[in-house]
Amino acid sequence: MKTSLLFVSTGCKAVRTLTKSPVFSPVTALSRHQRIAVWRSSSTRSCEDDKSYYVTTPIFYVNASPHLGHLYSAVIADCVHRYKLLQGFNSKFATGTDEHGLKIQQAAEASGKNPLTFCTDVSERYKHLFDSCDISYTDYIRTTEQRHRAAVTHFWSVLADKGLIYKGSYEGWYSTQDESFLTESQVADALDSSGREIKVSLESGHKVEWMTEENYMFRLSAFRSQLLQWLRGNPRAIQPERFHYAVLQWLQEDLPDLSVSRQRSRLQWGVPVPADAEQTIYVWLDALVNYLTVAGYPDDHNKWWNTAHHIVGKDILKFHAIYWPAFLLGAGLPLPRTIYVHSHWTVGGKKMSKSLGNVVDPLERSQTFTTDGMRYFLLRQGVPDSDCDYTDDKVIKLLNAELADSLGGLLNRCTAPALNPAQVYPSFCPRCFPSEGGGRAAVEDHHMLEAVSSLQAAVEQHYESMNVYKALEAVAACVRKTNGFVQRHAPWKLDGRDGEDQRWLDTIIHVSLECLRIYGTLLQPIVPQISNKLLSRLGVRPDERRWADVNFLPRYRGMDCPFEGRALGPDCGVLFSRLESLNLDKRKTKTTKTRNSK
Ligand code: MSP
Repeated sequence: MKTSLLFVSTGCKAVRTLTKSPVFSPVTALSRHQRIAVWRSSSTRSCEDDKSYYVTTPIFYVNASPHLGHLYSAVIADCVHRYKLLQGFNSKFATGTDEHGLKIQQAAEASGKNPLTFCTDVSERYKHLFDSCDISYTDYIRTTEQRHRAAVTHFWSVLADKGLIYKGSYEGWYSTQDESFLTESQVADALDSSGREIKVSLESGHKVEWMTEENYMFRLSAFRSQLLQWLRGNPRAIQPERFHYAVLQWLQEDLPDLSVSRQRSRLQWGVPVPADAEQTIYVWLDALVNYLTVAGYPDDHNKWWNTAHHIVGKDILKFHAIYWPAFLLGAGLPLPRTIYVHSHWTVGGKKMSKSLGNVVDPLERSQTFTTDGMRYFLLRQGVPDSDCDYTDDKVIKLLNAELADSLGGLLNRCTAPALNPAQVYPSFCPRCFPSEGGGRAAVEDHHMLEAVSSLQAAVEQHYESMNVYKALEAVAACVRKTNGFVQRHAPWKLDGRDGEDQRWLDTIIHVSLECLRIYGTLLQPIVPQISNKLLSRLGVRPDERRWADVNFLPRYRGMDCPFEGRALGPDCGVLFSRLESLNLDKRKTKTTKTRNSK
């Protein structure tokens, strides 16, 4: 049977001819499994899923070396993964490299290397960066792996069997840099570096080319109402909110069917279309399936797939929030639980890019500022909603103020042998610091305790909504308050020979160490090495560092404290070395001043 359908869409001239149609009825064929998928993506999940969590980064193009923006996507995902582990979740964390497509084919050609050797080389650079920066992925996927090719082939066949893919011809704009098809309204006139008139993508600014090709189309247009239904029923599916609204807006606009293959003569570097050796699967369809491959697709993937959360940069939102859910709905699979979107790092106000020559090397910077330093900076300064400009100066100022002086200084003061000669977690004296007021504590001290008591809940809320910078802002504010508490009571002025003074001194130190224990525990997802050093110095064992172990200052509430009287850990080195005003070439650092440590 050969049926012909003529679609005319605005923007790109797309003439699609349906050549193969297995008893096709778009609406009825889709409605049942789409309903199931939308239902599964809602909050009704089996109890078995409750303690599983699956977080992904985008997979990175291997056309060039990693830059700071790439590390940022990975650090956010790593932070979520570590946080979930602390909460007792069984968490899976996938990252990896996107190795097929025209852009990679061209980059490999330009390098004169065989494409797989070229991909392996750059993929290894990403892996090395992530390993150096404590990105604790559980799965590293490469799209050139056999398991992934098998998953893509299977996924394609499912869509084809459901009548969602048809052979047609595409005529329109294509950006190789973005590997993206664009409509007329998405392109603009521009001049290239030699003054020639070209067309560029309005969104990315990358050059586009007109292409006319026989290829396979996916019935994206048939999914508009299901996508709207999903987003309206799951207002937190795409976060922050502004991106949720951006996607809703896109769905009001033209949603033409999507070309999902390229002619083999143009694109050889990719997965062949099953049963048509003349066509190669579109790289975005190929790449998006990586999330399923890691979950175990097509075999036993439900456990992980039911609890998938994607972290993506704003430039790839359309692929994740429209194409990907439509493919999944088409294949009868649940949709991701959440798509967390982040904005970009710019340099001199411009998005980092190799062609602009403003790329910041994350490996070099993490060697200069330490990996924890870079992680802290990215998560403390990076705001999901808006772009952030990078300068080395900002890194130095922030890390010196918050990690070296404030947090490091506090630990240093409270563990210095002059104040704590026995090197133990000293006792808390309820008479000196009664919860009902009085004793030697000031009103501000009770306020400080209130702030620290509510910190865990605040941090949890911010980690959950991926507003990590707000969590770090809250921690930094509490660290300042604890420093204020120590400063106010100047324990170094107390007389150790006087029993009352000694009890009060011990109480001040006990309270401060309790605060530090909370900061160290809550900061583990952000700065794992610093937290480990801090908690080890306090004598907190690894099995006492979970989210459930926080239990701040039990002695204030009349309960026992397991740390009281315990020996401090032996490593009394500097928590974070102060960074000198930049001389990047000399990689100079100097140690934290020990002022105020008596
Ligand atoms: N290969 C695709 C993703 C496929 S996922 C199925 C891709 N790769 S990428 O290497 O170009 O980008 C990977 C991630 O890095 C994206 O989340 C992107 O937003 C992020 N960043 C790239 N440049 C960035 C900045 N300058 N700043 C912050 N993140 C940026 O897209």
